[in-house]
Amino acid sequence: MILRMTVEENGGYMSSSNRSSARLKALGALSLLAGAACGMAWALGTGPHGAMPLDEQQKLLDKVIGTSAINPPRGVDGLAWASIYIPADNAPNQERIALGRKLYFDVRLSKDGTVACATCHDISRGFTDRRSVSEGIRDQLGQRSAPTVMNAAMFQSMFWDGRAATLEDQAKLPVLNPVEMGHPDAASAMASINADPAYQGMFQKAYGRAPNYDDVGRAIASFERTLIFLDAPFDRYLSGDSRAISPAAQRGLELFNGKARCMSCHMINSSNPLGTDNLFHNIGVSARKQNFEQLAQKGLAAVQANGDEQALDKLAIETNLSELGRFLVSRQRQDIGAFKTEQLRNVGLTAPYMHDGTLRTLWDVMDHYNKGGETNAFLDGGIEPLNLTESEIDDVVAFLFTLTDKRFAEQNEAAFKEQQALAAKQRPFRDDALAHRETLPFEQRVMGAAGLK
Ligand code: HEC
Ligand code: HEC
Repeated sequence: MILRMTVEENGGYMSSSNRSSARLKALGALSLLAGAACGMAWALGTGPHGAMPLDEQQKLLDKVIGTSAINPPRGVDGLAWASIYIPADNAPNQERIALGRKLYFDVRLSKDGTVACATCHDISRGFTDRRSVSEGIRDQLGQRSAPTVMNAAMFQSMFWDGRAATLEDQAKLPVLNPVEMGHPDAASAMASINADPAYQGMFQKAYGRAPNYDDVGRAIASFERTLIFLDAPFDRYLSGDSRAISPAAQRGLELFNGKARCMSCHMINSSNPLGTDNLFHNIGVSARKQNFEQLAQKGLAAVQANGDEQALDKLAIETNLSELGRFLVSRQRQDIGAFKTEQLRNVGLTAPYMHDGTLRTLWDVMDHYNKGGETNAFLDGGIEPLNLTESEIDDVVAFLFTLTDKRFAEQNEAAFKEQQALAAKQRPFRDDALAHRETLPFEQRVMGAAGLK
């Protein structure tokens, strides 16, 4: 009961008006648990939009990040590390990182002063917001779920559809997006930033010039490149400690690389530590509710009218064309409904899952894959029914929970228990007939009975 309320509250599944009273109740319930495994870092946020208050987040960050020097973590090979892209004009140094950190936690970046990057990418919630879709200024909801910014530096492109090439480009978009931080233009954001006199000197020290919008993006990117969380039990296992993960998780890893076919998109090892191919696939998440053909026509018209970076950002965050995914960026047919293969690092902390946040637990994720996703004409060929048993599903889930950095081990444990309790009650995406091929997915669901003849 208590655990369920925690998930609902943190996950943003209730309307804004219900939220504060539910939060009070949940807080009351949680206080009974004082001293229990949840710990401070997994406590409920009491700041605006349900985030942990920003000063507490900063303290937590100090605890987990230690020095902010950029060094390869254990087990990550030099090649993978060297592949982190850093623009030539933005080599990291302490001044740039410190400026970026201040900006990351600063509500001045939002028009109404209630939202910082850290509101939606909350240190205490796996650097995301635990909502299905994000809530920005004036409680406006976007169309997509916030991914974690942990390790985002190692992605080859940013956002679920890869529409931003670098962290520098990415950071400038939410500030100007009407439903996220809502500054009408860069000048408005700079006026708000400049009202804090501390920034003058900090920008000078970092970039040798007066505050300007491009350097806001650069500084935040420098800070984000320090958010590397790749020291997990899985890494100890890889480097030879056979007891670092449970026997169930070891079986799960074998399934991940074999029968469950996860590795065809999520290969994970020391030279590819995030567990993503950095490509875009339609795995049938949004197909549940879309007529893709019609939507693609509309999407094409919209991007032909205006396909610049900010216009794309608005289509992705504010309109139902969002579900077209990579197609809006590439305009390629095969990218309809395709999204970036998400990293699997720290995945225990970042529920709910997928670009639309529709899957609440890793058991839901497994149910989705086990039945071959939602069939649609653009489904990736790598997605098909997996015929996994219940205990095999448990094993893969156990493995996925070994990918969380040890600095968040306590939260990971609490999240595992929350998800387990939730999954014991409901498995809304489970379909045994499809998973075990008693029903043929494509023929029957797409072609109807005629397809079987
Ligand atoms: C209102 C909530 C919200 C705010 C505020 C916000 N973000 Fe995000 N962030 C999101 C969502 C939602 C996405 C995914 C959008 C998409 O893919 O279309 C995202 C994506 C990202 C990504 C891409 C990660 C990946 O895996 O591709 C990064 C990096 C990021 N945000 C950093 C920031 C920074 C830096 C700020 C502050 C300047 C910020 N965000 C402000 C919600 C938010
Ligand atoms: C054909 C490529 C492909 C295969 C195979 C695949 N995935 Fe994925 N995975 C993706 C893509 C693409 C996404 C994002 C999809 C979206 O949001 O629409 C994703 C998302 C996820 C997420 C959500 C992460 C988050 O933070 O939201 C998890 C967890 C995951 N995959 C685990 C697995 C597991 C476990 C398997 C094997 C059973 C698997 N995947 C097989 C491509 C794949």
